[in-house]
Amino acid sequence: MQVVTHLSEIKNLTETLRAAGKTIGFVPTMGALHAGHLELLRTAVQHNTTTICSIFVNPIQFNNSEDYRLYPKTIEQDITLLQQNNCNILFMPDASEMYTQPALLKFNFGALEQIMEGFYRPGHFNGVATVVSKLFHLIKPHRAYFGQKDLQQFAIIRQLVRDLSFDLELVCHEIVREADGLAMSSRNQRLSTAARRIAPRLYEALQLAVVLVKDKQVPLQEIILQVNTFLQQYPGIKLEYFEIVDAETLQPISDFTRPTALCLAAYIGNVRLIDNIVVEVP
Ligand code: PAJ
Repeated sequence: MQVVTHLSEIKNLTETLRAAGKTIGFVPTMGALHAGHLELLRTAVQHNTTTICSIFVNPIQFNNSEDYRLYPKTIEQDITLLQQNNCNILFMPDASEMYTQPALLKFNFGALEQIMEGFYRPGHFNGVATVVSKLFHLIKPHRAYFGQKDLQQFAIIRQLVRDLSFDLELVCHEIVREADGLAMSSRNQRLSTAARRIAPRLYEALQLAVVLVKDKQVPLQEIILQVNTFLQQYPGIKLEYFEIVDAETLQPISDFTRPTALCLAAYIGNVRLIDNIVVEVP
């Protein structure tokens, strides 16, 4: 695996690969790799002749400086995992080269960013859209791989790709979970033993909601109430939001006639976790 740190180097390298007729699959990450990231990578390896992974803890997408400071970093282990999973190129830029001066560009994703992660993490999606645009320009992948775990991030990037005519195919990979249901996340590493023990309750709460949605007789507000009541049993869990939205537009719904996304964010201790389930045929 080739490790590239400079912007000019990755640009030249990907231009040469494209000119040679290679197809480039790209998996952007912030490192501290887990089985979820590796599933994205494996899918990219299957679809493309060259697979590029980026590791960059993007400072401008953190609205909480403590979260940025404490973001797990396991670079040695990440490199080994990427090598073992047939990644061809690791792009690992430095923040000083990615942002030679403060990024000023402001995106406006309208209603898409006014709820859930957009509402509770102001500026977050602006930082994501900025860095993903930069990475797409540098790498010009044929396909880019993202996880459903960050459902709203995927919707934002889909809009970004349409609005800016990025010539690439976006692939959304289903959520990879631990055996007990907890959605894999780099932030799971920061959970205490007690926190890790109650963390799967978040997925249980979503599963409870799925049953109620499929029942079709339970009013939306009642489902929201039941999820809140279920999670209130666990004093260690502080629910930030639970939303039932249209799986495509991510806007609030009033009935179950289209694919529906059940999304939540919660703090367990000082670790913020998100999860979702999409019910395809409510
Ligand atoms: P990061 O949190 O490292 O995630 C990288 C990619 O892995 C994202 O597309 C995310 O949705 C996906 N992913 C994370 N956990 C997953 C799981 N359990 N199952 C499936 N996919 C999972 O998301 C980011 O980094 C950043 O915002 C980034 C897009 C790299 C921009 O900085």
